[in-house]
Amino acid sequence: MHGDRLLLGPGPSVPYPEAVEALTRPVLGHLDPEYLGVISEIADRLRAVFRTGNALTLPVSGTGSAGMEACLASLLEPGETIIVGVNGYFGERLCEVARRGGAQVVRVEAPWGTALDPADLLAAQRATAQAAVLAVVAAETSTGVRNDIAPLGPELAQTDTLLLVDAVTALGGTRLEVDAWRIDACYSATQKCLGAPPGLAPVTLSPRAVDRMRARTTPIRSFYLDLGLLQDYFLSSPPKYHHTASSTLAYSLHAGLGRVLEEGIEQVWERHARIGGLLQSALPELGFGLVAPERNRLPQLTTTTLPEGLDEGVLRKRLLAEYDIEVGGGLGEFAGRAWRIGLMGHAATERSVVTLLGAVRELLAA
Ligand SMILES: Cc1ncc(COP(=O)(O)O)c(C=O)c1O
Repeated sequence: MHGDRLLLGPGPSVPYPEAVEALTRPVLGHLDPEYLGVISEIADRLRAVFRTGNALTLPVSGTGSAGMEACLASLLEPGETIIVGVNGYFGERLCEVARRGGAQVVRVEAPWGTALDPADLLAAQRATAQAAVLAVVAAETSTGVRNDIAPLGPELAQTDTLLLVDAVTALGGTRLEVDAWRIDACYSATQKCLGAPPGLAPVTLSPRAVDRMRARTTPIRSFYLDLGLLQDYFLSSPPKYHHTASSTLAYSLHAGLGRVLEEGIEQVWERHARIGGLLQSALPELGFGLVAPERNRLPQLTTTTLPEGLDEGVLRKRLLAEYDIEVGGGLGEFAGRAWRIGLMGHAATERSVVTLLGAVRELLAA
């Protein structure tokens, strides 16, 4: 067995050692007061990284996709309209999940590799004022583009349209301000910039989103991902049994968040910015291109085109087989001609950049 990989793909990232060590603790029952105490501390720690005072803040069982489905299922009733910003794979995913849930989907598009224009999203809301939700991916993992979220919330707060933000790759990597930006619903995942293994999806809902969910006239179609039932389980006293949540993953997330908050959330954002910048300034010297425009380029996920004539698949496989380094292949329009390099969480270090660049130089020279 091998397995000692340097994970520099689009996620999972290398978890913090504390998060790995926590996986060995004895299993607790899902209603054990000690477990619920850990959940309560996780909720507090998540509030600190989401920058929110939202009461409904909890880790949904499942990966980032569970967070996406929980928010869409809990906030949309069948037949309602959602406006979705689409400039990559995960915007498409939001459309598909909403469509399967019976929603009417209005798409606002920008080409892959460019950012959505907030003015376009707000214009779509004015044209579709009955929309229940407007959803945007903050950090498009398929392209390395950061979408501007901050201008949306204050406008949408004047309307009946809730702002839903996908922060799967954003949370802990780049600035995200749930309360200050007036985000109504936000979901993430543990395995990227939070530095824990995959398995939980942090979610937070504003009081306005909770009111909307509690005022539904139709039941939430998913029992497992019903955020109202999850609130009654994780955050109520006494807790109301809902499912057998994993204390193992909870301990691990608790430890990963502890590490993030010990460093300081702003300092963690700065570290990601600095380390991503190091990589992005070195790549062009090796003949690699940067896909995302500088103003909206994510530091934690870089989509880079390879020098002319190189087979990205062959080179990527050799990086893994010979150097134990994982990077991701391009998606969609960038499939076959780009890599996606993640520098997230515990892997957002100078050492990762130096190790990767050294290996790439050797492969190019060979
Ligand atoms: C922006 C974004 N949204 C949603 C997801 C889905 O998350 P998961 O793969 O953890 O289910 C991902 C996964 O990479 C993502 O990058």
